Amino acid sequence: MKKYYIQTFGCQSNKSDSERVAGDYEARGFIETKNWQDADEIVVNTCAIRQTAEDRARGFLYNVATYFQQQGKQKPKIILTGCMTHHGQEKLYEMMPMIDEILPINEVGFNSAVVRKDKKHAWVPISAGCNSFCTYCIVPYSRGREQSRPMEDILAEVEKLVKEGYSEITLLGQNVNSWGLEKEGIGLRKLMMRQERELSREEIPDNATQYEQPKGIPPFVQLLQEISKHDEIKVIRFITSNPWDFHDLLIDEIATNPKIDRFIHLPIQSGSNKVLYDMNRGYTKEHYRELVRKLREKIPDVVIGTDIIVGFPGETEEDFNETVEFAKEMNWKLGFVAQYSPRPGTASWRLYKDTIPQKEKKRRWEILDKIINKDNLSVRPHVV
Ligand code: 5AD
Ligand code: SF4
Repeated sequence: MKKYYIQTFGCQSNKSDSERVAGDYEARGFIETKNWQDADEIVVNTCAIRQTAEDRARGFLYNVATYFQQQGKQKPKIILTGCMTHHGQEKLYEMMPMIDEILPINEVGFNSAVVRKDKKHAWVPISAGCNSFCTYCIVPYSRGREQSRPMEDILAEVEKLVKEGYSEITLLGQNVNSWGLEKEGIGLRKLMMRQERELSREEIPDNATQYEQPKGIPPFVQLLQEISKHDEIKVIRFITSNPWDFHDLLIDEIATNPKIDRFIHLPIQSGSNKVLYDMNRGYTKEHYRELVRKLREKIPDVVIGTDIIVGFPGETEEDFNETVEFAKEMNWKLGFVAQYSPRPGTASWRLYKDTIPQKEKKRRWEILDKIINKDNLSVRPHVV
């Protein structure tokens, strides 16, 4: 029997996609091998969020190619998928000549067969892509426009999981709380807001954070309610939530639904309003503070984690100190602190110079990481 091996880099969405790629292989009669040296086909599921992530995938591919060359053995078929595919075929084959095939990310379907590693907890993708266009981020380019998976397909997958004995699920999407909203055009608000101002550095308008909220119960809350109807499902998690589209009714749902995990991943990215604006995050730190206040008031046992980028272009010492002060105030229990990495093609790459030296980025990273993760949760929840 032919053997496949999948090497996955990056976030949970990639891990979930890899489970679906594995499902496809097994449907075609392949079996998994734990050693890429024995594989007939190797899939490399790549991440492009930072340069270091791309470098890791390239490093892995070079190791593979060198090994087979040195052994004088026929190289297995190498298939590249994931977020690096946005570079386009020509560039990819030039960068990594050992690749035989490119599997476009959107061909890893939501509804294909899944081979899961865990028997109790399952990842369930609810959307793909992103419409938020944070200026530093490659995801809207690599994964394309936000697309919500239909409710009936999600519920069908949950039902199947229940039959298979699963009791914990994590709903996955770049922006779970905007699930189902893009049809109303709401998901594009951030982009339009930014384009209206031609990506200039203007003062943040007072209404920057006053997003239109959907009328009635937001679709994501309805989805949580539907999934919760299964007695067999005991724990529901979701990543990632963002400070926009975090409806009051979602807070109420978490507060009153004991199945929803108390850990909320809520990226801030910066504690400086100027930097937040340049990042096109579409909210201010005051808005974030108010959201956290509501969450903690209504859900007393809530645990909040975050993502922060240090060294974004133009981030002054003062901006950074604002983030440090905000970190102390927020008391996040977990924070993924990243050093800014310019991604070719994104707005920040086009508009701003990568001005902060590497050493300074590292210094800022160390300070923040220490403050936020000093008494880290001993078991990291299911994020990143
Ligand atoms: N440079 C550094 N960090 C980034 N992230 C996204 N894009 C970049 C970039 N260009 C971080 C953000 C995001 C997390 C998944 O990765 O903090 O929330
Ligand atoms: Fe990237 Fe922003 Fe979309 Fe998150 S919300 S994937 S940071 S563009």
